[in-house]
Amino acid sequence: MKITILTLFPQMFSALEHSIIKRGTDAGKLKIEVINFRDFATNKHNRVDDTPYGGGSGMVIMAEPIVNAIESIDLNHNAHRVYMTPAAPVLTQKRVTEIASGGKDLIILCGHYEGIDQRAIDLCIDEVISIGDYVLTGGEIPAMVLVDAVARYLPGVITEGSLDNESFSTNFLEHPQYTKPREFRGLTIPDVLVSGNHAQIEKWKQEQSLETTKKHRLDLINQDG
Ligand code: ADE
Repeated sequence: MKITILTLFPQMFSALEHSIIKRGTDAGKLKIEVINFRDFATNKHNRVDDTPYGGGSGMVIMAEPIVNAIESIDLNHNAHRVYMTPAAPVLTQKRVTEIASGGKDLIILCGHYEGIDQRAIDLCIDEVISIGDYVLTGGEIPAMVLVDAVARYLPGVITEGSLDNESFSTNFLEHPQYTKPREFRGLTIPDVLVSGNHAQIEKWKQEQSLETTKKHRLDLINQDG
């Protein structure tokens, strides 16, 4: 999959040049390109924002540089085009897997300031995505969240088994994990984990998974899908 990110702050995306995402790009499992849409402004000072019609505080990003940038990279509309905004449905693991397996390249548009002229969204965007019910200073961190979440599901990016039994792969959160040493600051690991009894271990994991979900996200238990 190729992921193209449109932003006014390309440097922020150096955060994706590490760890698993870096290994994935180095191995050619995904390609990430970051484009500054200021380069597509057509006015003298490369201005990309202006005051909002109807008044209000802050500045709004103009439609033209956005539409020009998207048309320059995807004129025939082959890619899935996403705009990160808090005014949108919240991203779920289910949606992440659908995007990852959809077979399309991805274009992610990041807003900043008070938002983007709606006509750029109407003309160019297929889907709006929020990463949660809070407002950030821009769409860059949300875009990185989407890239990271989607990249994990691209074949060969992470070890296959790591995707099983993790939080949200079912409607349950993951059970607690332990590693060596067996005792740390007076706290020991649950005996069942060293019992060698795989059926008991599996049962313990399921019970713990249920307990964790009840404690932190009871809403997930009665939810569909
Ligand atoms: N931009 C600002 N806040 C955001 C959020 N919560 N999700 C997506 N994009 C955003």
